[in-house]
Amino acid sequence: MKIIITGANGQVGTALQRVYAEHSLVLVDLPDFDITRPEIVAQLAAEKPDLIFHPAAMTNVDACARDPRAAFQVNAFGTQNMALVAQRTGAPMVYISTNEVFDGTASQPYHEFAPTNPINPYAASKLAGEKIAARLVQKLYIVRIAWAFAKGGNNFPAKIIRAADKFGELKVVTDEISSPTYVPDLVDALKKLAATDHYGTYHLTNSGVCSRFDFAVEILRQSGRGDVPVMPITSEGFERASTPPKYAPLENNFAAALGITLRPWQAALANYFSD
Ligand SMILES: NC(=O)c1ccc[n+]([C@@H]2O[C@H](COP(=O)([O-])OP(=O)(O)OC[C@H]3O[C@@H](n4cnc5c(N)ncnc54)[C@H](OP(=O)(O)O)[C@@H]3O)[C@@H](O)[C@H]2O)c1
Repeated sequence: MKIIITGANGQVGTALQRVYAEHSLVLVDLPDFDITRPEIVAQLAAEKPDLIFHPAAMTNVDACARDPRAAFQVNAFGTQNMALVAQRTGAPMVYISTNEVFDGTASQPYHEFAPTNPINPYAASKLAGEKIAARLVQKLYIVRIAWAFAKGGNNFPAKIIRAADKFGELKVVTDEISSPTYVPDLVDALKKLAATDHYGTYHLTNSGVCSRFDFAVEILRQSGRGDVPVMPITSEGFERASTPPKYAPLENNFAAALGITLRPWQAALANYFSD
């Protein structure tokens, strides 16, 4: 099978390369391949892929808030280009999206067809990507994830450990709540999902719900830093450019119906430290 992986050097792209190592891979990432260049459509369509994974995105939510035009250029127009590759070749596409398409005002985890209502430019650009892909790609999986973390990535566990070692104490928000996604677990699930031909919209995070504060406390405990004091704060006390949804865990109903579930996030975190 020939598989295109966009954002191939990112957290999800790197892990996808590993699980599909036995296949012929077309790796798309900056600086050699820029998904915002219109020429990429013909160039990648000529590869005649059997499957396309499209995790490439501008993922720095604060940078997206400072420069929404750039966010839309990559996350919406870049996705349009990849959707056109899928349309021209008939290849199925897996578009990785985010829990941030929801506004965070719910009191229960969001199901796959809960109404979307992005509240920041990153989220709006990712939702635009979902809509464009849905219009253009017949064989489409939209897979929403949250709080992705993998060894080597600049993710929440890495930042918490760096900050703990630098400052010896931390302040972490209690009013941002979701479900972490361990990328090796995610890509195993994506591989199973992509083999089903059950195109549609899916939520794939590790199971369980936690606040950033809970996540930080568990990261410190599991990494042997349980004595580092963590002060709970609210987001009013934490200045940042983007506004994350406050309560946006994702409920996995549809992948679960296909037999695809992810283990609890605490168990996944243990593997992050031991792998
Ligand atoms: N990370 C999270 O917590 C999280 C949460 C929810 C959803 N998601 C979604 O999950 C997907 C994968 O996330 P990730 O953590 O793997 O992200 P990542 O580590 O930031 O990887 C994204 C990759 O895409 C590349 N890229 C950016 N602009 C590009 C362009 N114009 N052309 C080609 N490649 C480009 C990036 O290159 P540069 O590094 O050079 O920019 C990077 O290698 C994204 O679609 C994201 O929206 C992520």
